[in-house]
Amino acid sequence: MSSTPTPVLVAVAWPYASGSRHLGHLAGAYLPADVFARHQRMKGNEVLMVSGSDVHGTPITVRADAEGVTPQDIVDRYHGEIVRQWDELGMSWDLYTTTGTENHAKVTQEMFLAQLENGHIDKRTSDQYFDAEAQRFLPDRYIEGTCPHCSYDEARGDQCDNCGRTLDATELIDPRSKITGSAPELRATEHFYYRYSDFNDQLGEFLGAKQGWRPHVLNFAKGWLEEGLHDRAITRDLDWGIELPVDDLGPGKRIYVWYDAVIGYLSASKEWAQREGDDELWKHWWENDDSRHVYFVGKDNIPFHCLFWPAQLMGAGELHVPDDVPANQYITFKGGKASASRGVGLTVQEGLDLFQADGLRYALAANFPEQSDTDISIEEIARRINEELVATWGNLVNRVLSMVAKNHGDQPACDGRSAEDEAILARVDELLALADAQLGRVELRAALRSAMDAAAEVNAYLNATEPWKLAKADPERAGVVLATALDAINGVRVGFAPYLPFSSALLDEALGPVAGWQRVPVAPGTPIAKPTPLFVKVDVDEILAEDTADETA
Ligand code: MF3
Ligand code: ZN
Repeated sequence: MSSTPTPVLVAVAWPYASGSRHLGHLAGAYLPADVFARHQRMKGNEVLMVSGSDVHGTPITVRADAEGVTPQDIVDRYHGEIVRQWDELGMSWDLYTTTGTENHAKVTQEMFLAQLENGHIDKRTSDQYFDAEAQRFLPDRYIEGTCPHCSYDEARGDQCDNCGRTLDATELIDPRSKITGSAPELRATEHFYYRYSDFNDQLGEFLGAKQGWRPHVLNFAKGWLEEGLHDRAITRDLDWGIELPVDDLGPGKRIYVWYDAVIGYLSASKEWAQREGDDELWKHWWENDDSRHVYFVGKDNIPFHCLFWPAQLMGAGELHVPDDVPANQYITFKGGKASASRGVGLTVQEGLDLFQADGLRYALAANFPEQSDTDISIEEIARRINEELVATWGNLVNRVLSMVAKNHGDQPACDGRSAEDEAILARVDELLALADAQLGRVELRAALRSAMDAAAEVNAYLNATEPWKLAKADPERAGVVLATALDAINGVRVGFAPYLPFSSALLDEALGPVAGWQRVPVAPGTPIAKPTPLFVKVDVDEILAEDTADETA
């Protein structure tokens, strides 16, 4: 085991509290983070896993306007929903907060002032779209038009959902106001700009030194940097967001949501430290060269986390910059990009209503879109649960625990293991070591496969040794085989633990807690009771029938 624990920051993309999150978000960022964090904790590292709801910006206000309620109403509704789902999903946050706290506003304003002081923020006047009918400016999502890159005709003023590029509203072709539908006019307005271009060289060195990053992430970030970062406005003509710490722009201006949201990683670390009763504790992760910061985000967030956020950190002082950003590609749902706003794919709640949390976690982890877009469906989730999780792992545990409970009542004494017995234990240990290395490289899909391979090999061992036939003929040999199988299971469950927190807790009750990333033999004499099945099989026909009924209702 590693000697000194490493402080690991598991930084997870902050979901907008503007609507229900869907399974694409879950598989893209949140679940991978939780699996990684759980493994790091099992290794004995000092994990700080933080995130929160992103409550600012036009995603929130556009929704509030559409419903005729306040932005705070929207935030309260969806933040509440998200937090309830984290519990149901078994997310092991050290802190899940929001960007609406006083602490976050303070940390954001302090960072702004430090960068202003360091000369990386200045004031500029530019022309922005203005809706003459509504008498207001149209920042970000208040404007829609045709994407200049891919011709998608519902691109928004901040980003095109089709090709994923960040946009400047003035680049849109045929822009129209989201409020009145009218063609907007340009008006001069004054804003603060962050001088991202000050950091082009430093970012080049930063990215140039990165090894072992996912190729699609590094290539995307480097490609973007080749053009050089442009300075960007970090304030908006909006009345929803963090107030500026200087008042020289006049009223009606707020800090831009993307400038403030990424600061959440730092402000949440500070909030966590305060809650722990040691205000300085955050420095152990942020002012420490030996810590490791890993950011879990979807691919549309790559520029913000690989370029803009590092530039903000570099301009503020001596703070730890990202070590890895293992961004995922997209989950598609029967061919379409999962999207809550367009109603494609299941929401997190729908997923939880249909499947056990561990089953859902398993099926999504088996399909994490680590290297390319990955298609899922209700049938695929059900197949993964029934044919892999239940058939291979659930049944193995059930078989072995039942036989031990019935024939012995406790873990049999086990003298005189054969070469075959030793071989299966060695193989489990080997696959655990492989999974450990894969998890360390954030190859979470492969590590899950290693755990499942180990389960399959223990099944094969049982089929070869047939302890159920030995019980009468050679009870002593049967005892050795069952004790070996139980020891093997005690190793395999280590590999599944980061993925399956609920069934792992049941096994902890039955066999005692897992002690780090290693297989520990079950002590002879440990009482073993008749098990309750870990997972339930999914009836896919029933689900699909309900699903169609919902659609036609
Ligand atoms: N709210 C953004 C999104 O859902 C993600 C923000 S990540 C953050 O795409 F770090 F900036 F908060
Ligand atoms: Zn586009």
